[in-house]
Amino acid sequence: MEFMLDSANLKDLEHGMKYYPVDGVTTNPSILKADLPFDYFEQLKAIKALCGARTMHVQLAAEDFDGMMAEAEEIWQQLGKDVYLKIPVTEEGVRAIKEVKSRGGYVTATAIYYPFQGIMAIHAGADYLAPYCNRMENNDIDFVTIIEQLRDLIDRDGYKAKILAASFKNVRQVTAAIYAGAHCVTIQPALLKTAMHSALVSDAVAAFSKDYKTVRQGK
Ligand code: G3P
Repeated sequence: MEFMLDSANLKDLEHGMKYYPVDGVTTNPSILKADLPFDYFEQLKAIKALCGARTMHVQLAAEDFDGMMAEAEEIWQQLGKDVYLKIPVTEEGVRAIKEVKSRGGYVTATAIYYPFQGIMAIHAGADYLAPYCNRMENNDIDFVTIIEQLRDLIDRDGYKAKILAASFKNVRQVTAAIYAGAHCVTIQPALLKTAMHSALVSDAVAAFSKDYKTVRQGK
């Protein structure tokens, strides 16, 4: 599996990469907005520098094909062609996914709420596809079943697409997505902190630490 951080905060990313097995960083304009002020491409370059060999996923914000391709060109020029372009699975987006792939770029198909969007992204050649798990659940869409079925389709027909489950508001959603068959998850640093901080665990660790001191005293 792969594990990514859904953040544009340099301190959070540095911390996450230092402590956890991080394979990539995902952003979108709303995530970036939380860290203003900055120059857009300077911030993205700083994130890319932190990523090193990890994958970096940057969202295209245009809603039409021409606008998406203009943004893609700008990102390739500023950040390099190894960046994964997050492209929403709309009609215009599917056309852009095909075009980016035909030009040798990488695609993370995003804003996926429905199975057919996932199917279309897979067949259009997306490298990753990002179902928005919490947003789906908020709208009574069963993301677990959808991930299971998309994973079955990928495996059955031998597609290379990977499911990058996104939009999590609790840890249970993350584990459910992974066990349903997501190849990859991206989570916000705050949720990661919640996932790794438990009174049960810290009490156990503190008790062992206390007893170790006693044991080392030998009496
Ligand atoms: O990567 C972006 C996606 O995770 C959306 O997340 O938290 O805005 O639903 P959220």
